[in-house]
Amino acid sequence: MTKLLQADAIGIAHAAALLRDGALVAFGTETVYGLGADATSDRAVAGIFAAKQRPRFNPLICHYPDADTAFADVVANSQARRLAATFWPGPLTLVLPRQRDSEVSLLTSAGLDTLGVRVPGHEIALALLRATGRPVAAPSANLSGRVSPTTPQHVLDELSGRLAAVLDSGPCPVGVESTVLDLSGSTPLLRRPGGVTVEAIEAVIGPLGTCDKIPGVLRSPGLLASHYAPKLPLRLDALDVKPDEALLAFGPTLPGAGAVFSLSNECDLAEAAARLFAGLRQLDEDAAALGLARIAVMSVPNRGLGRAINDRLRRAATPRA
Ligand code: TXA
Ligand code: MG
Repeated sequence: MTKLLQADAIGIAHAAALLRDGALVAFGTETVYGLGADATSDRAVAGIFAAKQRPRFNPLICHYPDADTAFADVVANSQARRLAATFWPGPLTLVLPRQRDSEVSLLTSAGLDTLGVRVPGHEIALALLRATGRPVAAPSANLSGRVSPTTPQHVLDELSGRLAAVLDSGPCPVGVESTVLDLSGSTPLLRRPGGVTVEAIEAVIGPLGTCDKIPGVLRSPGLLASHYAPKLPLRLDALDVKPDEALLAFGPTLPGAGAVFSLSNECDLAEAAARLFAGLRQLDEDAAALGLARIAVMSVPNRGLGRAINDRLRRAATPRA
């Protein structure tokens, strides 16, 4: 049975004790809910891969209460320190070389010699990390390849019975995952667009390389083409709605749609990001109830948080193998 814990002092202490004991606990962050485990325990980390049915080659992000504890497990350079000072706590993951004597399980980084570290911008998550006193490995708390959860109910709907507890931190304010920035090579590489915009990062450290532009460089191992998949297929850049479609709207909605979820009436990208995953889940349900075949998606500008939104929509639209 998966417990739903209140995020008060007792609930946080309980969740921390479970984590120290090797159990899996989902907790809210500013981005999405994470499926947490003690990152130093092979057995606990293996439990994450099993619960999510996640491929073992896909590394996990390690969560810390502050930059000092995060940088104890990796070799931080001056760019990493500047970015941490600017954006932590917040939705930015830095990929850096692992510290040789780090106690973080090699399973966490999927055998790579780098580790993704992040300090989440959420008071409850930080309190949990402080109380746990260990690095906490946490992927998004969904089955591998499916839509990320932004409420405790999303986690329970998909993973109930596969984890000890969910710490209820309410809905996640940012709604898309952290930006993953790889600082382990000679050029900073954007591995996943996310909650901190490319524009904001470039204002601190200058131009980024993207993995797409550099031949032979793999994107994040987790960024398989098909991901974030709702049950129904998606049709992107829709200018109209067909009779057998539900609509994910951005800005003024289109005429004729039966089931509609509006990401943002006012074209506010932050609001749209926060509502994206809940919208995909909602339309999946509505469309099934109405016997619809597809979700039509209106286009979202590709700047600021729009990049992370479009990245998730493109992956959600890619047919599954
Ligand atoms: O916002 C977030 O980042 C959420 C919350 C829970 O913190 N976590 C999250 O984790 O989105 P996950 O596992 O769903 O996505 C982590 C991404 C994957 O694409 C993974 O491949 C990449 O980060 N990643 C992790 N460690 C990496 C590493 N050492 N090198 C390259 N990519 C890495
Ligand atoms: Mg994920």
